[in-house]
Amino acid sequence: MVMPAVLNSLTFLCVLAVLAAGQAEGRHHDPDCPSFSCGPLRNVSFPFRQASDPPGCGYQSYELICSDTKAAIRIDDATYYVPAINYSGSSFWVIDANMDLYNSCPLPRWNRPPSTYHYNMNMEVELDPLVDSQACFLKCSREVKDNGMYMPVACLSTNDTYVYVLTGDESNSMEYLEPSCGYLAMTPQPWDSPVLENASYADVVKSMRSGFAVLFPFRYHRRSINVCLRREIRLRI
Ligand SMILES: *[C@@H]1O[C@H](CO)[C@@H](O)[C@H](O)[C@H]1NC(C)=O
Ligand SMILES: *[C@@H]1O[C@H](CO)[C@@H](O)[C@H](O)[C@H]1NC(C)=O
Ligand SMILES: *[C@@H]1O[C@H](CO)[C@@H](O)[C@H](O)[C@H]1NC(C)=O
Ligand SMILES: *[C@@H]1O[C@H](CO)[C@@H](O)[C@H](O)[C@H]1NC(C)=O
Repeated sequence: MVMPAVLNSLTFLCVLAVLAAGQAEGRHHDPDCPSFSCGPLRNVSFPFRQASDPPGCGYQSYELICSDTKAAIRIDDATYYVPAINYSGSSFWVIDANMDLYNSCPLPRWNRPPSTYHYNMNMEVELDPLVDSQACFLKCSREVKDNGMYMPVACLSTNDTYVYVLTGDESNSMEYLEPSCGYLAMTPQPWDSPVLENASYADVVKSMRSGFAVLFPFRYHRRSINVCLRREIRLRI
């Protein structure tokens, strides 16, 4: 009698997703919302909104904070500058605002694990990075030697904790997690630079300073079988 239960919960999830999607569309697609200027950005429109807009305008999660010189967005507990929006590419650029503070030893604050694992078919996805590749920071209780993927982050390590950064297609795979290590932080990589692999912390910081692209809301459809398989094999840390 396991099957019916599984089927039921699947059906339930699907119904929920459809309901949520219907509501989302009703809520967000107000054509009369005025575009606005925000910091250096002009003519900002859907899916973005500003706090003073009526509730039906844009997405709450894409609300911009505007000052004279900067446009910013809060994602989870971190603030990011938004230097550019690419409407034709349905994405926008973000740079961690903390990177500005002459921090010589930054740790990313993006705290959204690769998302496909908890996507349901037709689910609406917000604030997904444009590219899958990322740098993954690990904190280990023992020094990791003889593993070329583990690049040390000396300025974050102490006498008894060893911090490493892993880059490359498989950097978030459990397969490469050494037993004494656990997840610390991650950052998506920019789409317009070569994918980093076994990059040094200095190179990862350079990439963090240039920021990364985040997608407009989209509805999740099954991607190519290859991508799915690859993602199924990969496990979240
Ligand atoms: C503002 O953006 C809208 C849609 O993105 C576009 O149709 C319109 O031409 C733009 N207006 C200006 C003045 O750039
Ligand atoms: C906007 O996004 C599209 C699709 O990803 C890309 O081809 C284009 O180069 C981007 N434009 C800018 C100005 O980044
Ligand atoms: C990264 O390190 C792994 C493990 O040492 C190695 O197998 C791989 O070839 C390296 N990749 C590059 C581009 O150096
Ligand atoms: C770390 O080790 C060094 C040398 O072994 C020692 O002088 C220092 O006090 C240690 N620091 C801490 C925080 O334990």
